[in-house]
Amino acid sequence: MTTTLTTRVAIIGAGPAGLLLANRLRIAGIDSIVIDSRTREQIEHTIRAGILEQGTVELLDEIAGSRARTVGSRHEGIELRFAGEGHRIDFDALVGRAVWLYPQHEVLRDLVAEALDAGQDLRFEVTAEAVVDEASDRPAVVARTAAGDEVVIRAEFVVGADGSRSVARPVVTGSHGGYFREYPFAWFGILTEAPPSAPELIYSNSPDGFALISQRSPEVQRMYFQCDPDADPQAFSEAQLWDELQKRVPGTTLNEGPIFQRDVLRFRSFVAYELRKGRVAIIGDAAHTVPPTGAKGMNLAAADVLVLERALRALLLENDERPLDAFAETALRRIWKAQHFSWWMTSMLHVAPDASDFDRKRQLGELRSVVESEAGSTYLAEAYTGWPLD
Ligand code: DHB
Repeated sequence: MTTTLTTRVAIIGAGPAGLLLANRLRIAGIDSIVIDSRTREQIEHTIRAGILEQGTVELLDEIAGSRARTVGSRHEGIELRFAGEGHRIDFDALVGRAVWLYPQHEVLRDLVAEALDAGQDLRFEVTAEAVVDEASDRPAVVARTAAGDEVVIRAEFVVGADGSRSVARPVVTGSHGGYFREYPFAWFGILTEAPPSAPELIYSNSPDGFALISQRSPEVQRMYFQCDPDADPQAFSEAQLWDELQKRVPGTTLNEGPIFQRDVLRFRSFVAYELRKGRVAIIGDAAHTVPPTGAKGMNLAAADVLVLERALRALLLENDERPLDAFAETALRRIWKAQHFSWWMTSMLHVAPDASDFDRKRQLGELRSVVESEAGSTYLAEAYTGWPLD
């Protein structure tokens, strides 16, 4: 059985990019349908990063019921730790901005609740299989429900906000793909039931590799340490995990507790060669991936949304195609800045498996250039808290 639905914008993916776009289009009076292959439960419980740029929080302020400022916590700096010493990067003093620690799955709970309350057409467990007629002004998404029924969503524009395995991306890029870089390490992530080890996040470079000491709440910490990309999350005992973490933050004593979640996050940098073809565009992880150091992923998705929203308002409300023609170029400027920042934080803080003594000494020189210079620290503070949004 095939059901055909009609809307103005068909959005594939109910992650931060898809839901935020639907919210903003709805406020502009533009109807959309959002589909996602996952269940609501899966969307709201997948553990991802936890840092929101100031501009992202300001966008979320427009979501009724957003808890980013009430449940999340404002952080005005981070610690960069190397050679056994910590150095605070004071965002507030350097750039007058801050970030919020508020996990992505909580953002998603807020976005899903707001969408459903507002009557948004949001369908879970509907899997996009193809995007068709992208060169016409009536493109469509062909999808399938969990029961096996076909759904065709005919729209004036299709947006792929469907993550790194995007179904929309091949339609946009053809066989070209994108710019790609892999890294010879990954992060071992844990959640542990113990109060924060420090008031702010610690990014630590050590001869044994990188560690990030983050938090989730007054009772739970999130921590990561650099590991082999093929590491088996189950291969370490809790004692071994604490040992690995502790030796990477010399000079700090970590608060230890039961470890109730563990995962290995692979690193890659990717930017699609094209972000739009005809009436189909890709945003968020469908368009780009950054390594996690610096937590740019979701923030970049939010920035894409703003640029595309403006283009769609012009197209669908004023019949003006110019902002859409400029969409990719405008979005790519920020995407490449965020790619650079994520790559830079990663390369400055991690120890590559083949690093020579020269590389190691140079890296410490780089870290000192950041913490001992107001200009160096200001670049980090500006990029971490987020460049102004359009
Ligand atoms: C977290 C993740 C990051 O990649 C980062 O740079 C900071 C915090 C986190 O999950 O808490």
